[in-house]
Amino acid sequence: MNPESVLRQIASEVSVCTRCILHYSRKNAVPGEGRPDAEIMMIGEGPGFYENEQGRPFVGPAGKFLDELLQQAGLKREDVFITNVVKCRPPGNRDPQPEELAACDVYLERQLQAINPRIIVTLGRFSMAKFLPNAKISEVHGKALWVNGRLIIPMYHPAAALHQPSLKATVIEDFGRLPAYLEMARQGPPQPSQPEEVTSSPESQMGQDEQPTQLSLF
Ligand code: URA
Ligand code: SF4
Repeated sequence: MNPESVLRQIASEVSVCTRCILHYSRKNAVPGEGRPDAEIMMIGEGPGFYENEQGRPFVGPAGKFLDELLQQAGLKREDVFITNVVKCRPPGNRDPQPEELAACDVYLERQLQAINPRIIVTLGRFSMAKFLPNAKISEVHGKALWVNGRLIIPMYHPAAALHQPSLKATVIEDFGRLPAYLEMARQGPPQPSQPEEVTSSPESQMGQDEQPTQLSLF
């Protein structure tokens, strides 16, 4: 199946999914949307009020701000694929629970496989934790890290930046780096400089799969 059909299939399964308790309170599941061949995938936390009403990701105030941030990076919503770690709204916008994240991850994994993006932009801590479990957002926001051949770029959640004016300039600046990161991602991950036989320390044997490589570009 081509990526477009796979994404359509995932969306139809998500719309009737009962894998976790979030299905009881949802109005519309929000599978995500965007280009099936997007180079950049943006992953938020979960649908909020407006997204639950409309079945589309980032359509409320945080979404409006996300559109501005994309514009700042010279991108349009149609250029990327936008989804969330949970596809149904947690009641009252509470945090998604571990069992809900685990249940919904099957869909996100299938979306990742279908789209195969060069860059994953994580929006908020739950989506960052999937790719960078030990990272602190205050330390890594706006940086780029290679994980499994993809550039992971953790960003502050647009809703957080809307509520904390001190973060707003930071997140705008961080999004401004996306074009340079896209150029870098198109070149691919750095090749290991040593041949395999001479690697001896446990760290160097972990390779690029287990150890994110941080790029201190800026
Ligand atoms: N916040 C999110 O994390 N995701 C959305 O889809 C909307 C708001
Ligand atoms: Fe299914 Fe995900 Fe919705 Fe839970 S949040 S019911 S796993 S689609």
